[in-house]
Amino acid sequence: MRITHGDLDRFVEQVRPYTEYGQIVEYIPALAKVDPSQVSIALHMLEGECVTAGDTEETFTIQSISKVLSLAYILMERGEAEVFHRVGMEPTGDPFNSIAKLETNRPNKPLNPMINAGALAVTALMPGDGLEERWERFRKFLSALTDKDTLTFNDEVQQSELETADLNRSLAYFLRQHQVIQGDVEELLQLYTRQCSIEMNCQELARIGAVFARDGICPTSGESILPPYIVRICKTFMVTCGMYNASGEFAIKVGIPAKTGVSGGILGIVPGVCGIGVYSPALDEKGNSLAGWKLMELISRTYDFSMF
Ligand code: DON
Repeated sequence: MRITHGDLDRFVEQVRPYTEYGQIVEYIPALAKVDPSQVSIALHMLEGECVTAGDTEETFTIQSISKVLSLAYILMERGEAEVFHRVGMEPTGDPFNSIAKLETNRPNKPLNPMINAGALAVTALMPGDGLEERWERFRKFLSALTDKDTLTFNDEVQQSELETADLNRSLAYFLRQHQVIQGDVEELLQLYTRQCSIEMNCQELARIGAVFARDGICPTSGESILPPYIVRICKTFMVTCGMYNASGEFAIKVGIPAKTGVSGGILGIVPGVCGIGVYSPALDEKGNSLAGWKLMELISRTYDFSMF
């Protein structure tokens, strides 16, 4: 399949007008300082080429996209039994930071690892002695996925998240009260906000997608980074829960396993074909990138990428 920069450029300009109808996220103040008209996309083809268009040099924090990456990491480190003892496998139909079902569900574990409560339960399992060692081990894992050892998090965004994380803090304390997690909640909040504040551009995001699209094999070296069963679990969660409470609509209209973040990033996986990284910060009312969604829809229809 030949996809050119010219094709993607046309699609980007076609969806850019939608950015005017979206909202930049406001509950994390440092995220609010971006130009809402940006749109960028990268497709990392499994043959090696990365085709890009739009404002591709722009970096952004990956926010909830990190939930797929922490899940893959913790499944490798702790295994399926331990992970699913602490989080479920079902979509919630609720907003990503909702506390409601945590109280009514029995047992009181989060319904899935793609919502904030579930991601906190997963991150709480990060191995290591203390914040820095735990972070460094996760960062090393991510470096293999991005092929970039200099991966960092955005300090300003992380501080801003920590200062406004009372909802996440309350989810974490709730989980500890119900023995879903153990240990120091503030250290967990530090780790979680660092993972959300990891900064990259859409090419790097697409590169991660390509590893998943190739069933865990590095697209450049051919080395195995993730076992195929972990890739399968992650892709399934992306289909059922990756676009929050709009995942069903996204599956019908786009049909690509994807994970969104409130900064406006979307990671997409087209199995056997390519990884997709999209960025456009203006969001719809459910917290998904408005132009990003339209762009994914256009690409999926044009190239017949829906898996259904
Ligand atoms: O924890 C938060 O609310 C943000 N750091 C990330 C939220 C996000 O991207 C959507 N979550 N599923």
